Amino acid sequence: MTEQPVRRLPVAEVAPVLDAARSAGLWHDESRAVIFHDLARMEADLGRLHAAFPADTLHTVAIKANPVVRLLAAVVERGAGLEAASWEEVELARAAGCAPDRIVFDSPAKTDAELRAAAELGLWINADHEDELRRLDAIGVPAGTQVGLRVNPGSGAGSIGFTSTVSADSKFGVPLERAAELVARYPVVRGLHVHTGSQGVGLELIDAAVNATCDAAAALDLDWVDVGGGLPVRYTDADPEPPTLDDWTAMLSRTTAWGTRRIVTELGRWVQAGRGWLVSRIEAVKDVNGVRTMVVHAGADMFLRRVYQPDSWDHEMVVLDPDGNPKAGPAEPTTVAGPLCFSGDLLAVERPLAHAERGDLLLIRDVGAYTLAMWSRHCSRGLPPVVGHRGTDVVELFAGEDPGDVVAFWS
Ligand SMILES: Cc1ncc(COP(=O)(O)O)c(C=O)c1O
Repeated sequence: MTEQPVRRLPVAEVAPVLDAARSAGLWHDESRAVIFHDLARMEADLGRLHAAFPADTLHTVAIKANPVVRLLAAVVERGAGLEAASWEEVELARAAGCAPDRIVFDSPAKTDAELRAAAELGLWINADHEDELRRLDAIGVPAGTQVGLRVNPGSGAGSIGFTSTVSADSKFGVPLERAAELVARYPVVRGLHVHTGSQGVGLELIDAAVNATCDAAAALDLDWVDVGGGLPVRYTDADPEPPTLDDWTAMLSRTTAWGTRRIVTELGRWVQAGRGWLVSRIEAVKDVNGVRTMVVHAGADMFLRRVYQPDSWDHEMVVLDPDGNPKAGPAEPTTVAGPLCFSGDLLAVERPLAHAERGDLLLIRDVGAYTLAMWSRHCSRGLPPVVGHRGTDVVELFAGEDPGDVVAFWS
């Protein structure tokens, strides 16, 4: 049994970290919003992940969850590789010091030039469809190139259609039934790749998809199986209790791949989501049609999924005093509005929150994955800085953008 990790930073630890960030000049009176990332707990999670798998497993972390290069470098230093969903992410992986043979290149839209460069570098390449295999053949990849075929076992969708990837109508991969025919036609294929979806996929669905893929890889005598990512996390009490690392490895260890083929993993959210937390200054508090409404410095620019699909995505929020201590007192229905110029830019509607004044802080939890990474330029506000911490040792991971950076971006 692996020790259960703390799900996220206890609120009592926020004030000391803020204090340390203030001393280091990383949080100050003019700060609008800063993202913090708990490196110590992330690193401990990676240690648990490595310990739970056969020694030759290649654990890659999905860059798309959080592409901050210094954060990726911390992941690489802990022995993980990186999963890249675009050529730009391959370059991010290299900038983070990841060895090419520990980078998995997944994308349903790879150009010939990218495929050639990937093969020359010695990346793991997961082909998404038959034409990509044909193009790899034509390019003539060097012997030993790790080429996988992404398959879709058609196991069904999870609770969030947008992020489910093994339903029959998913745009990814080839139907699993075609794997035998394609592996016979393209001997360059050495492994199979499956990714069940990201959040909203329960262990049963992952089990069905991964098990079917492992059986196919064994039947075709392939060397490895990339089981993807998708281990869900819990954002609020309304989310179902997610499977633990132990549940996941127990499930995987019952597959035909465990101990017989090399396993590749591509977790993103499980590694990063709970480790990130955002503190925004509450810039305004006003009455909107009788509802107390606070305006904060992060909205649909950083929380795209929350704002545009509020029924599927949510975050817990806590009102803090200016020093970062939770505010006491009875909760009152409060709407949390972002800074962008449309009425729908809301992070919460009439949510019970402690009484807030201008100058207090709002803590938004579980922001380590698919938030900053999905930044939208609407209204051209600069990206917030990211500060890593191990306990109260703080380090700048990303400087954020000042207005000059934004002008440079659009110039
Ligand atoms: C191919 C692939 N692998 C891995 C991941 C990471 O998923 P998660 O962050 O849910 O673990 C994704 C996410 O979309 C993906 O598309």
